[in-house]
Amino acid sequence: MAKITIAIDGFSSTGKSTVARQLADALDYIYVDSGAMYRAVTFFAINHGIIDPGSGAFDREALLEQLPQIKVAFRKNENTGKAEVCLNDESVEDRIRTMEVSSFVSTVAAIPEVRQKLVEQQRLMGKNKGVVMDGRDIGTVVFPDAELKLFMTASPKIRATRRYKELLEKGEEITYEKVLENVEARDLADSTRKDSPLIKAEDAVEIDNSDMGEKEQFERILSHARNLISGR
Ligand code: DC
Repeated sequence: MAKITIAIDGFSSTGKSTVARQLADALDYIYVDSGAMYRAVTFFAINHGIIDPGSGAFDREALLEQLPQIKVAFRKNENTGKAEVCLNDESVEDRIRTMEVSSFVSTVAAIPEVRQKLVEQQRLMGKNKGVVMDGRDIGTVVFPDAELKLFMTASPKIRATRRYKELLEKGEEITYEKVLENVEARDLADSTRKDSPLIKAEDAVEIDNSDMGEKEQFERILSHARNLISGR
């Protein structure tokens, strides 16, 4: 059966990756978490002193200089069966979702040279279709011809509550207010940056899941995707 490309964009903590993963499993497609790629580059910058989390200082030139040496890739973890993001051949999957990385990722993701490098890679990963990719610019920039585009939203407070719970479960010491602040700051930075801002593609289906259960949401999207695929 012909495969399609599925692009899922939206604000942070709207459950994009959960739906994307579920869809990829159900359709036997590849799942690509493009946010993890921006997070891996940010993690590199923090680890190499390019970003100083204490003062917030960021040496943009140093990052541009080192960019050719930064290799971001996905590798399947044979124990969990899940793809993990790797930085220069080492899995960093467990280290990129901290508040520290979240605080600087929008700055790094606004740099055109970083975007160009990662978008090129993302297009290669999706060149044979059969891919579900989630991010901010997938339906607008990476795959403007994707057959199915979703744009996910939910209220900032609901999203901050979800993210707060996740961080607490991981043992991070954090307040709800700090998480809400980060969610709102990233919304603003991601949707107002010059290069590839987060906007809804004209042909995207908008899904506000503030009051929608995960199962209901997934079933609706899967049935929509299956209709599209069988109609081709
Ligand atoms: O999906 P996420 O929250 O893990 O993404 C982290 C950051 O990366 C997000 O704040 C914006 C950026 N990003 C982006 O600019 N473009 C993408 N395609 C994916 C993520």
